[in-house]
Amino acid sequence: MLYLNGQFMRREDAKVSALDRGCLFGDGVYEVIPVYSRNPFRLDEHLSRLEASLAAIGLDNPHPRAEWARLVREAIRLQDFDDQSVYLHVTRGDAGERDFPFPQGVAPTVLINPTALVTPPAALKAAGVKAISHADFRWLRCDVKSLNLLPTVLLREAARRAGCAECVMFRDGFLSEGAASNIFVVRDGVLACPPKSNLMLPGITYDLVIELARANGVPLEVRPVSEAEVRAADELWMTSSTREVLAIVELDGRPVGDGRVGPMAQRLDALYQDFKNQVMRAGKEQA
Ligand code: PDD
Repeated sequence: MLYLNGQFMRREDAKVSALDRGCLFGDGVYEVIPVYSRNPFRLDEHLSRLEASLAAIGLDNPHPRAEWARLVREAIRLQDFDDQSVYLHVTRGDAGERDFPFPQGVAPTVLINPTALVTPPAALKAAGVKAISHADFRWLRCDVKSLNLLPTVLLREAARRAGCAECVMFRDGFLSEGAASNIFVVRDGVLACPPKSNLMLPGITYDLVIELARANGVPLEVRPVSEAEVRAADELWMTSSTREVLAIVELDGRPVGDGRVGPMAQRLDALYQDFKNQVMRAGKEQA
């Protein structure tokens, strides 16, 4: 079951207009919320980012936060699997014609579609993954979780063809982020990541990793990270809601550090898993 424009329905019954502005222009924004044992993880943070994305593209928010939370929880309840990835999007709707400026008085299209959450299996976490790099050729509002994902599609396809799991992007000699993740580096025991800006998505997992590093005395520098530093890093990892903390052990065919998952990645992933398990237990106690 999924939610579309006010109703829960079977996936095969869900239809949107061919003239939906999401289809024509990618005119909309989205979120991906991980759900563990039916507990949405960091729901408030995801809904807050959704509000920021909607405001950034001048699209009226169709629901107050409490109603979004209710709809997401109801969508979760209707699935027959416990761990979920809730995909949610809002487009500027169907104006009945293809004209670029905002239409007036058109209802947005709202979709909430939970699917089974696939996090990296333990063996992959332990082995790490390979990545390619590429110039970041996206627009200058990468802080908006926009439905325009053609650059991501092209970069992730290039990564897949190279047998890699992610594409690490650089802009003007500095690390921006992964095609669908944020990137952290470790050098001489110090963790570093770029500060939030218009050039990257403010990741919910990025925020949590920073919180956990600070709370546990891990040396951390939030500052611009040069391409040279990435290429000389002892460790490199990606973070996202679905990949959690996943080490990159090879970049452009060259080993990162000694080519194995490093101790800092293991430590932060363990802290992340502990935190997640605590939240899940608390959620279960409330239920
Ligand atoms: N992507 N940067 C980009 C460009 C992303 O697309 C994502 C997430 C992230 C990580 O954000 P978070 O920690 O909030 O998941 C960073 C999602 C998972 C996707 O598009 O499927």
